[in-house]
Amino acid sequence: MNIQGIVAFVTGANRGIGKAYVEALVQAGASRIYAAARSVETLKDVVAIAPDRIVPVALDVTNPDQIQAVAEKASDVTVLINNAGVLGAGGLFTDHSVETAQWEMTTNYFGTLYMIRAFAPVLQRNGGGSIVNLLSIASVVNVPVFSSYSASKAALYSLTQGIRAELAPQGTQVIGVFPGPVDTAMAEGVPLDKIAPIEVAKATLQAIEQGIEEVYPDPVSQTVFTDLQAPLKAVEKQFAGMLPQ
Ligand SMILES: NC(=O)c1ccc[n+]([C@@H]2O[C@H](COP(=O)([O-])OP(=O)(O)OC[C@H]3O[C@@H](n4cnc5c(N)ncnc54)[C@H](OP(=O)(O)O)[C@@H]3O)[C@@H](O)[C@H]2O)c1
Repeated sequence: MNIQGIVAFVTGANRGIGKAYVEALVQAGASRIYAAARSVETLKDVVAIAPDRIVPVALDVTNPDQIQAVAEKASDVTVLINNAGVLGAGGLFTDHSVETAQWEMTTNYFGTLYMIRAFAPVLQRNGGGSIVNLLSIASVVNVPVFSSYSASKAALYSLTQGIRAELAPQGTQVIGVFPGPVDTAMAEGVPLDKIAPIEVAKATLQAIEQGIEEVYPDPVSQTVFTDLQAPLKAVEKQFAGMLPQ
């Protein structure tokens, strides 16, 4: 699929990696980009990148009724980028760890599932298209400093595989993106080198164009996936020292 002329929909587009997706899509020649955020007020800077091509949309990915209404209006979408996500640190034994885990699952897993259920028929009507899910290296190995986030991203990895199989007959390409640390608000406290959000976005657009199913956009991600060729247990031990303080 050529990015030139596509119609894309990006969740969590007001900042971080989502905003970088909008920038990269504009640069690559997308004809229309629906930039979604819970509050459209937070999208002013994003729309200013290319006001003739960027359409601001109010969307909370935990609200299936709102998602359904938005999918009916955005009926020309050919690429859906499920970027919105949350991370609550603190380990599994803090006072609010169960509520944190529910919030992460509701947003990262169920939010993405709602989006895909609403947009799969739209993509089918438009010829198949692509779905991009923002996973993480934490999808394949639990990082205890954000353990319940890792669990939600592992669930999303499994969902990505299932959706890929279920939507193959309608010609929808399903891509998983597995970043390591990226320089956004979410990774503020992570004591590792971070790549710029635009690198994640550019690597993803290249994968869409080349028909690649999995994206490892940075050195940490590439190292993890190389290490996974070795026994999985060794990788688990590599992260086991990253405990909550
Ligand atoms: N940063 C990293 O190191 C890293 C690594 C691997 C994967 N990722 C993944 O990349 C994606 C983007 O993360 P980021 O680093 O750009 O984080 P970020 O700067 O914290 O941005 C998160 C985005 O998600 C939106 N969001 C949160 N809850 C939402 C909801 N219920 N409905 C709609 N939007 C919601 C936020 O909107 P508000 O402004 O309204 O809160 C914001 O736009 C996430 O899925 C994350 O898990 C990030």
